[in-house]
Amino acid sequence: MHTYASLDDLSAQDRDLAHAALAAAAHAYAPYSGYAVGAALRTRSGVVYRGCNVENAAYGVVLCAEVGALAAANVEGAGAAVQVIAVTGRLLAADAPRSAAVVTPCGRCRQLLFEASQRAHDDIRVLCCNHDLSRIEVTSIAALLPAGFGPASLGMT
Ligand code: THU
Repeated sequence: MHTYASLDDLSAQDRDLAHAALAAAAHAYAPYSGYAVGAALRTRSGVVYRGCNVENAAYGVVLCAEVGALAAANVEGAGAAVQVIAVTGRLLAADAPRSAAVVTPCGRCRQLLFEASQRAHDDIRVLCCNHDLSRIEVTSIAALLPAGFGPASLGMT
């Protein structure tokens, strides 16, 4: 399931979620990559949790935006209720190219979202947005991480 959309094609709730991700990206701490990412997820009960990437001088310990959003949901007891997540990102340099490319979650974040989908007993929709939300790829974690390793792989039902 990969369909391209613009904001106008989305429901009002999903439009709000994309805007929440964009607002979260404003708080990114990304002095090393110069790439700011924002994520916003919505739970079954309609609550939105946000995250932004947080980098570190020890490059390998970077926290992705999706990690922050998932952690925020979990600490409120909503880790098993994630329905949809929007992600957006942009290069911070003033002279950087403003491409139409959308942000797709990295492999580690796909694994974290896969676990959340297993806990939710449902697929999670993923709205991959470009820097100004003019291009959005609507997909899902099942499509982004087919045959994922999850609780069932460890014999859990
Ligand atoms: N990044 C995210 O926060 N989420 C993604 O899905 C892709 C990558 C961050 C990590 C790093 O701070 C920067 O983007 C460049 O890789």
